[in-house]
Amino acid sequence: MSVISSKDVNEIIRKTLGIINNKIMNHGEITGYILYKMMEYENTYTEQHYTEQELVDYTMLGILHDIGLYKEDNVKNVSDFETKNLWPHSIYGFLFLKYLSPMGDKAEIVLYHHLDYNRHNLIQSRYMHIIELLSLADRMDTFLHMKDQSLEKDYFTRYRDIKFSGAALDLFHKAQERYDITGNLINGKYREELDVLLAKRAFSEQYKRGFLEMLVYTIDFRSEHTVIHTLATVNFAEQLGRLARLSGRDLRDLHYGALLHDLGKIAIPLNILESTGRLSDDEMKIMKAHVRITEMILEGVVDDSVLQIAVRHHEKLDGTGYHKGLTAADLTLPQQIIAVADILSALYGKRSYKEPFSKEKILEIMKGDAENGKINKNVVASLERNYDQIIKEFEKEKENTIGLYLKIKEQYAIISERFRMFD
Ligand SMILES: [Fe+2]
Ligand SMILES: [Fe+2]
Ligand SMILES: [Fe+2]
Repeated sequence: MSVISSKDVNEIIRKTLGIINNKIMNHGEITGYILYKMMEYENTYTEQHYTEQELVDYTMLGILHDIGLYKEDNVKNVSDFETKNLWPHSIYGFLFLKYLSPMGDKAEIVLYHHLDYNRHNLIQSRYMHIIELLSLADRMDTFLHMKDQSLEKDYFTRYRDIKFSGAALDLFHKAQERYDITGNLINGKYREELDVLLAKRAFSEQYKRGFLEMLVYTIDFRSEHTVIHTLATVNFAEQLGRLARLSGRDLRDLHYGALLHDLGKIAIPLNILESTGRLSDDEMKIMKAHVRITEMILEGVVDDSVLQIAVRHHEKLDGTGYHKGLTAADLTLPQQIIAVADILSALYGKRSYKEPFSKEKILEIMKGDAENGKINKNVVASLERNYDQIIKEFEKEKENTIGLYLKIKEQYAIISERFRMFD
């Protein structure tokens, strides 16, 4: 039994990114679909052949090609970013996919999706052909969809072999004639087709895990604290779970439940998420909604025991938690452990509204909660006994994550400098 099935991988990505910005998600899916149909045509009628893995990876990259745009604060009009401000989102998207997705080896396809065709000779990539197709598919959607202002009417005659590959355009027309691509875009059939394609390929567990981790990192487009909090919760939950001698299956569920537990925060307004003061009652209500949003995203998509761990992390043993107000009798040990890990992560971490607390203060607060019947006593006792070791292990892992972040920032500067020649 796996945590998530292959066919649901796209569904969870669609739901999560759609909440951040639906327009970017739609544009991505349409672009991915056009790219997919062009490759399918080649596969069936030409010498060019793709393995199933390649078809899936390239289509996924097509869907995610503008993922760097999610980092921009206010994308109301996708076409503005697609026609004027090309490099920041191309570079950021590339680095994000390279380091934080399971398709890292093919991420450079995204880096060059806005590079004009007559400049392709300036770069070297083993994915040149796919870059041509993606670049065309991207402009095709910008043209079909947003024709109002962005691309001139005669764009595809005027800029043939200048801004885009003429051969790719010819391929698009053949695929259009064969499959009625635009018809499927209008009647919505393209989504089913994408689902079928992605379901056909049985993703390895590792590949799927990579996508779930990637999703968690997308929260970071909005709030760095939330990602660090999430990674800390995963780490603490796992360590506490091992100390409680959970079974392998329970440990796995706990890992994924912790990984996904705050996914719903992508829908919480930034001024509340990053608030430096005390939240008002109304703001608190909105903040608490993240649990329901997490539930909405994960329901029917991930394994139920993972879902229940994720959505019960704010429940208390005495029934005073949310969002269901469950009590000890309803809560399994893994569900009680994630609640402890979540509190520990919040107290230990630096948050927008507080500095990290000392060991003494953290243990005092948590033992108080345990004595008041809010959280599991045994788990807190085992935390107290192993506190230094648990923190040491976590700090080690945190170094790696922070190292990765620094590397991405550093590479961003280097590549931006190199890309000046394309402006
Ligand atoms: Fe783009
Ligand atoms: Fe695009
Ligand atoms: Fe939470």
